[in-house]
Amino acid sequence: MTKQIKVLSIETSCDETGIAILESGAEKTISILGNALSSQIEIHAQYGGVFPALAKRAHAEKITFLIQQALSDAELLEAVDAPVENISSDLSFLDEKETQLKEHLAPFLTYYKKPDVDYIAVTVGPGLEPALWVGINTAKALSKIWNIPVIPINHMEGHIVTAVFQRINEQDFVLSPIDMPILSLLVSGGHTELVLSSELGKYQKIGQTRDDAVGEAFDKVARVLGLPYPGGPAVSGLAREWRDNEEERLFELPRPMLHSGDYDFSFSGIKTAVLYAVRDLNREMTDEEKRALAGEFENAAIEVLVHKTLKALNEHNAQTVVVGGGVAGNTYLREQLSEKISKLYPDVTVLFPEMWLATDNAVMIGMAGVLQITSNPQEKTRNPEELRADGNLSL
Ligand code: KG4
Ligand code: ZN
Repeated sequence: MTKQIKVLSIETSCDETGIAILESGAEKTISILGNALSSQIEIHAQYGGVFPALAKRAHAEKITFLIQQALSDAELLEAVDAPVENISSDLSFLDEKETQLKEHLAPFLTYYKKPDVDYIAVTVGPGLEPALWVGINTAKALSKIWNIPVIPINHMEGHIVTAVFQRINEQDFVLSPIDMPILSLLVSGGHTELVLSSELGKYQKIGQTRDDAVGEAFDKVARVLGLPYPGGPAVSGLAREWRDNEEERLFELPRPMLHSGDYDFSFSGIKTAVLYAVRDLNREMTDEEKRALAGEFENAAIEVLVHKTLKALNEHNAQTVVVGGGVAGNTYLREQLSEKISKLYPDVTVLFPEMWLATDNAVMIGMAGVLQITSNPQEKTRNPEELRADGNLSL
C-alpha cells in the first residue's frame, strides 16, 4: 500500500493568501482536507493593480489565521496542554523584516501542537518578492518549530498540475494517465507562456509574451472601460453579452504576432489600441460601445492564444493540452480551444482546471508538492535556511 502523505501548502506570490492541507492516497489520488484562502482584491481594487508593500502586509496579517483554519478543517488542530517554550527566541530570524508575521505566528506556535503533517510545500516564485517572502518565512518558521521538511514550489508548475488532476468528488482528485508530450498554455496576470513537457515535472518553455501578460491586458482594458479589478471576469462578461446579442462590431483591434512564425506573444499593442479607440471617441462611451470594445478585445486576445497553441500542438505533436492560470477561467478561451482541438485534433485531450482552482490558491501548490514528493522525496526537500524568493523564477 502507498503510504499516505499529508502536505501543508502555502501560496503568497501575488494577492491571494492561501493555505491548504492535502493528503495523497493510493492510486494517485489526492484529498483536500483543508483549504483556506483570503483575497486582497478589495485592498488593491482602488489602485487597479497589486501594490507589493500592501500585499506583503495583508499576507502577514492573514496567514496565521488561515493556517489555523485549514488545520481545523482538516481536523488537525490541537491546543497544547502547556505553552511551548522559547518560541519567540526560536523565531528571532523574523525580528527585522517580518515583525508583523511574527506577532501572529509566535502565539499560534506557543499554544498549538505540531500537527500530523509530513511536508510543507511553499511557493518560492515567480511573483512579487515581498509577498513571496511572507510565505517562505512562514514555511521556515513552521519547519523549524515543528521539524517538518520543506519543498520549494514553482507557482507556474502549480497552475499546470491543477489541470492534470481530475476531480472525482467533492474533495478528491485523481491523476489519470496522460499521453505525452503535454503542451501547457499558461495564462495569468503575470505570465503568458507555452510550455512543452515530455513528462510531468520536466518543462521546456517554447514561447512567451514579449511585453504584457494576457491577464494584465484584461486588467488594463477593464480600467479603461471603468470596470473593477481584477478585470478578466468583468471584461469577459461584457464581451459575452455583445456576442450573445449579436451586436455590431464597432471596433477593429490588431492581432499582434499572429503570424510571427514563433510561439511568442505580445499584448501591449492590443491594450494601446483599446486606449486609442476610447480616446478617439472624445466623449463618454455608450454601454453598447463598451460591450463592443470588450468583445473585440476578448476576440483578439483569445484568437492569438488559440492560434499559437494550435501551431505548437501541431509542430510538437502534443497529445495533451493543459491550460493553467487565472485566464484559464475564461469561458470563451475554454470554448474556442476545446472546439478547435476537437475538430482538428480529435485524439488530443484538453485539460482545464476546475473553475475555482484557476486563479491563485494553495491547493495547486500542494498538488505540485505531492507530485514532487511521490517522485523523489529526498531530492525535492530543501534546507529551509537556503530558501529564497525569486520573483522571476522560470519553469
Ligand atoms: O493566476 P492568477 O490568479 O494570478 C497570477 O498568477 O497572475 O491570474 C489572475 C489574472 C488576472 O489578470 C485576472 O484578470 C485574470 O487572471 N482572469 C481572467 C479571468 N479570470 C481571471 N481573465 C480573463 N477571463 C477571466 N474569466
Ligand atoms: Zn497564478
